[in-house]
Amino acid sequence: METASKISIEAQAHLHVAIIMDGNGRWARARGLPRGAGHRKGVEALRQVVETAPELGISHLTLYSFSSENWRRPPAEVRDLMGLLRFHLRSEAERLNQNNVRLRVIGDRAALSSDIVDLIDNVETETRDNTGLTMVMALNYGGRAAIAAAARRMAEQVAAGLLDPRAIDPDSFGGALETADLPPPDLLIRTGGEQRVSNFLLWEMAYTEFVFFDTFWPDFGGRDLERAVSEFRGRERRFGAVGV
Ligand code: IPE
Ligand code: IPE
Ligand code: MG
Repeated sequence: METASKISIEAQAHLHVAIIMDGNGRWARARGLPRGAGHRKGVEALRQVVETAPELGISHLTLYSFSSENWRRPPAEVRDLMGLLRFHLRSEAERLNQNNVRLRVIGDRAALSSDIVDLIDNVETETRDNTGLTMVMALNYGGRAAIAAAARRMAEQVAAGLLDPRAIDPDSFGGALETADLPPPDLLIRTGGEQRVSNFLLWEMAYTEFVFFDTFWPDFGGRDLERAVSEFRGRERRFGAVGV
């Protein structure tokens, strides 16, 4: 009995949950507030989710924070989002350390301003040895761009005579992605009512289970996360094989 429950807890303790945190703007509009107010409230929701995640057996939490397409928004909103990011990166390092959270950032840093890149480097270094939750922030991230970058890296190795093209397969290709050291997401949550992927972890989500919420991201809380995880646990994952 004791052994069985131990095994089931262990089996649950390595979940990778990815979240498309959507609906900040609509949350604000519904209240007659500027979109920025929704983004600020969204950061509070994020804090709560990060704190609840480990209790649910989540070891990795990947958060879509700014997509490579979000530059298409009005410049004032982009500035607002970047300002919020700066503030968050400056103020959160200590809290992340207190919670034993390791921060990783994925996405193309080249287009981010240099002070933000420095802040990212600092927080990644300061939290590197934390052994609790791994929080992955996708910033200026696009799934297609990530795949193209991996293809470019492999092509460069082939051109340099370091790689035999016949050695390119899903395993080695996955190893060339910047997410190579992360497990693939088990569960994707998208809030805000839309049911699409919006160029998030395209390669990595080949067998991810999706759970959608109509709730706008600023209203999302620990309870909702728990609901999504419990729905996930009720699913049968077959990975192309025959069910039990
Ligand atoms: C998600 O909320 C946050 C980011 C994309 C940065 P949105 O800003 O997309 O909110 P909606 O979808 O317009 O409501
Ligand atoms: C996806 O949301 C990106 C983030 C949550 C950071 P969007 O609001 O940008 O996606 P679309 O435009 O509705 O597909
Ligand atoms: Mg949106």
